[in-house]
Amino acid sequence: MGTTLRASWRVAAAGVALLGIGLALALTLPVREHRSVSRAPEPATSPAPLAALGRAEPIRPLRPAEGLDRAKIELGRRLFHETGLSGDGAVACATCHDLARGGADGLAVSLGAGGRAGSINAPTILNAALGFRQYWDGRAATLEEQIDGPLHAPHEMASSWPKALAALEADPAYSTSFERLYGGVTEDAVRNALAEFQRSLPAPAPFDRFLAGDGAAISADAEAGYRLFKSLGCVACHQGAGVGGNMFQRMGLLADYFAQRDGVTGVDLGRYNVTGREEDRFVFKVPSLRNVALTAPYFHDGSAATLEEAVRIMARYQLGRSVTGEETRLIVAFLHTLTSTAPSGGAGS
Ligand code: HEC
Ligand code: HEC
Repeated sequence: MGTTLRASWRVAAAGVALLGIGLALALTLPVREHRSVSRAPEPATSPAPLAALGRAEPIRPLRPAEGLDRAKIELGRRLFHETGLSGDGAVACATCHDLARGGADGLAVSLGAGGRAGSINAPTILNAALGFRQYWDGRAATLEEQIDGPLHAPHEMASSWPKALAALEADPAYSTSFERLYGGVTEDAVRNALAEFQRSLPAPAPFDRFLAGDGAAISADAEAGYRLFKSLGCVACHQGAGVGGNMFQRMGLLADYFAQRDGVTGVDLGRYNVTGREEDRFVFKVPSLRNVALTAPYFHDGSAATLEEAVRIMARYQLGRSVTGEETRLIVAFLHTLTSTAPSGGAGS
């Protein structure tokens, strides 16, 4: 576990280093021919066997989560759907992270306890376990730590630990499960079960089969879209096993995204709200693009209604270029291959 963790930090660090190169490439070579791009540049002398090409891909296949406890996952799943954890007994994690809606809520901003509107778009939790931090601004380090946010937020579950724990204690089915698995109903136990459930959710997509060498797993359009995704420079930020989720970047790197939107809100400041550093203004965690076809509307402000629109905005504001309708179509075809086909929550023993 320690090694895997360290390894993934190295990957994240390498990703940050790669970013400069990726962007420089994207900027200086805007119209690289697309046919050869699926083969990552290899030294001329390299025989470039398939396995080596696979290792060079900027997007990594999903690896099954290991060492998860099936009983804890199941307890976490029940808690995730438990409205009794909220102050008004009406809101569960699943209210805003509906597994039938790709782990999100389909709204621009979420509605919580008492129907109160939040100020930011709910990301899917399907891939949250792959993220190097939690939240758009990365203010929580782990899934366990993240849970304090929704539990207390007045516009989310509007509750507290004492209230939530008392509700669980009072329910014999819960108290028995907690007693058996954790020795009692505690804050740490609730955090762990909910996190364990979320760690069980990442599930492979057709694109993982493609990365593993099955050329027929995705369509020719989607493959062309992946080449564009690489040659345009999207992979400078959306990369690794999560196709994102391993670095912070400014929204509007090459053009002012917020100037064309009416009024900057507090949440638009992004990572600045956490660090107070000027260079973190408008900086967000690069979201994972796994299952992105299921989670419209897009961006932290929920402003892009469709994937096509999100792709055009990304090209313009992150890469400083425009994409044609055909290029957009191909990239969207690729993004659809990131939708998990195996049922989520299948991991564990
Ligand atoms: C009222 C809607 C609502 C409820 C209820 C809710 N969330 Fe969220 N969740 C959100 C929103 C909105 C965000 C994004 C907030 C931000 O980034 O500032 C979020 C972010 C997250 C993230 C971070 C994902 C990422 O990719 O960064 C996780 C994990 C998460 N929620 C899990 C949970 C869990 C577990 C519960 C129940 C204990 C829960 N949420 C309850 C709306 C909700
Ligand atoms: C410089 C880094 C960077 C580059 C390059 C980049 N992105 Fe993004 N991408 C981000 C960030 C940061 C966000 C979140 C922005 C926000 O919510 O305000 C994002 C969000 C997205 C989203 C919305 C995801 C969601 O769940 O809301 C999509 C789709 C997307 N990017 C696709 C692309 C595509 C396609 C390209 C290439 C044309 C691309 N990105 C290039 C950093 C980048």
